[in-house]
Amino acid sequence: MSHDTVIGKPLDRVEGHQKVTGQAQYSAETPIANLTHGVFVESTIAHGRITDIQTQAAENAPGVHAVFTHRNTPEIGETEVLTPGAAGQKFLPMQSDRIEYAGQHIALVIADTLEQATYAASLVDVQYEADEAVTALEDALDQAYDIELPFEPRGDPDQSFADAPVKIDAKYTTPVNHHNPIEPLTTTAVWDGKQLTVYTPTQWVLGTQYALADQLQLSHDQVRVVSKYVGGSFGCKISCWPHTTLAALATRELDRPVNVELTRAQMYSSNGYRTPSNQRVRVGASEDGELAVLIHDAVTQTPPTEDWVEFSLLSATSMLYECPDFGYSYQLAPVNMSKPTFMRAPGEAQGTFALESAIDELAVKLEMDPLDLRLENYAETIQGTDLSWSSKALRSCYQQGANRFGWNRRTHQPRSMRNGDQLIGWGMATATYPTVLSPASARIQLAADGSVRVQTAVHEMGNGVRTALAMIAAETLGISPERVDVEIGDTTLPKSPDTSGSRTTASVGHTVQTVATAVRSKLIDLAVSDEDSPLSDISPEKITVERGRMISPDDSEMGETYQELLQRQGRDHIEEYRETVPPGTDDELKQQTFSGHNVFALPLESHSYGAHFCEVTVDADLGSIGVTQYVGAFDGGRIINQKTAESQLRGGIIMGIGMALLEATITDSERDHIVNTDLEEYIVPTNADVPHIDAFFVETEDPDSPLGVKSVGEVGMVGAAAAVANAVYHATGTRVRSLPITLDDVL
Ligand code: MOS
Repeated sequence: MSHDTVIGKPLDRVEGHQKVTGQAQYSAETPIANLTHGVFVESTIAHGRITDIQTQAAENAPGVHAVFTHRNTPEIGETEVLTPGAAGQKFLPMQSDRIEYAGQHIALVIADTLEQATYAASLVDVQYEADEAVTALEDALDQAYDIELPFEPRGDPDQSFADAPVKIDAKYTTPVNHHNPIEPLTTTAVWDGKQLTVYTPTQWVLGTQYALADQLQLSHDQVRVVSKYVGGSFGCKISCWPHTTLAALATRELDRPVNVELTRAQMYSSNGYRTPSNQRVRVGASEDGELAVLIHDAVTQTPPTEDWVEFSLLSATSMLYECPDFGYSYQLAPVNMSKPTFMRAPGEAQGTFALESAIDELAVKLEMDPLDLRLENYAETIQGTDLSWSSKALRSCYQQGANRFGWNRRTHQPRSMRNGDQLIGWGMATATYPTVLSPASARIQLAADGSVRVQTAVHEMGNGVRTALAMIAAETLGISPERVDVEIGDTTLPKSPDTSGSRTTASVGHTVQTVATAVRSKLIDLAVSDEDSPLSDISPEKITVERGRMISPDDSEMGETYQELLQRQGRDHIEEYRETVPPGTDDELKQQTFSGHNVFALPLESHSYGAHFCEVTVDADLGSIGVTQYVGAFDGGRIINQKTAESQLRGGIIMGIGMALLEATITDSERDHIVNTDLEEYIVPTNADVPHIDAFFVETEDPDSPLGVKSVGEVGMVGAAAAVANAVYHATGTRVRSLPITLDDVL
């Protein structure tokens, strides 16, 4: 099969041409006859109730079909909220006069055109009775309450910290961050009297189907969800948010197709955000840098109506270093804002900023190189056990990353690598992200013309899943990836999990390989049992496939193509369907996944890892900070596509640079609402903020993951903000423990 080996190659995206030529059809571009447009009116207060809402002028405006408010919106059925369940939040707007956050949908105006709906929405008049609101985490800390997390404390952390000869005890904060995908959240809903079809960019078609079926009291079969392309997401398009539910209700009420599209400003209150954090990290070590104890305490925010638990915030602290004692606490503080959600490396991103800053602070205190300190405390085993990880190449990441960066030329003292007016700083940090597997299913058809169609309900959001699945099918069948069409993002396709948690290639890639293997076996069986085939009577396991041909073990000239076989036998196509489940899981996980009920997956004894090396340049007079060099070395298991996988690393690192230096959602505490709800004021990194990023993989394969694949979608983000912050310290001698780091922090 060597001629046809495609796995591991840096292939272009299979849908790349369609995307750059504008042919890829995003959800809101679906051509629908008689489409109406919905525009939301949003609350200007953060907490209280609506005392009056006048809609007459809006209803009388040109082109308007309806104005929905809490007074006339039909009752929405209950569904389970993450997790399990798919709805983004429990509190549903427009079901009562209650206001729970600024920016909450309070009316939905439906008109023939977007312009008419926008104008009419401006005519809706609202009176409120405002209650007291707390809109910042630091103002809610005294209301915080304890939450149990699934981490095992070890030893006697308090005593161990008291006894440690060298200690770090520091507080870190991270702000609210928003996802800001370039494609906004949109929903086009079409009701035909019996069946609801929803076109919406989502990372979870089955979850949205599940939630909408409950909420509109329909059967699953009556709801179809389509999500062919997702123009960026980073977690804000996993759940079924209220705008989707309300668009679905509106189409059923009006019997007309309805499109709603959130404005950029509405995307700051309607689809989640990264929860901010207040963290305290205590580290105790010996004089020669051996870790004795890590204690990590964290508070994050949640709306008063329900808990958003940032499960993974303490995960890296629990497992990353060889450290006998470990303790933690975790609390939620109620804040009158909308509900947080998953955002790329949810929890790990905030937690490792604190942990990897604290480890750097320890290195400074010990006058040790931060890389040497990490190597000295390298965890060979799963902490609290004698077991080893199924694969772990973090040591190679540290070494290869350091070599490429030239880390050994670093001088220890801060402000010691000056270049004229420019202070140069070199910082590093560690990355880790778990490997999880989900059940999945797929169907593959190989047609008589030799073309192949792969079908499975996963999602393309820039992650490269279409390309990876095409490559896996192509390699297994011995054909070119161009012959493979991957059909995804539709509840009518074979059931698969949500595309989140960096699980898709490991989980669904394995399924596609399993089905493709079944198709290949079937074709070979047909050939060897066909007396007209040149392969007649050869034992099937000896046949190989190459360039679309099945060939004899003795003579590569002897064989036939799939087309020749199928055409001679008068068959249109061969088709196979398979389901795969993670090893050792029961039917329940499969049922929950296939019904769109659960985002949880089976964690393997396996993580991806990485090492970040970052150079910042800080102007000594002006304090302006730029990232000027970046190397990231990663262990992501077996890599299916070098190009798209490295692109995932770079994307994660760029988000980490944004988190470190630029991104923060700011609430005006007088007026209780977010003030920077656009891309001019919420600053994300642009090309000018990002140097060439040398992100690469060290070669590994994970024996516990059926394809050898681990997780690459999120690991690049983990630790990146700490690497930048540590570099800023090295450049300036100023330790900034509160993100984002801005020039006034270092002046
Ligand atoms: Mo991700 S935050 O699992 O899209």
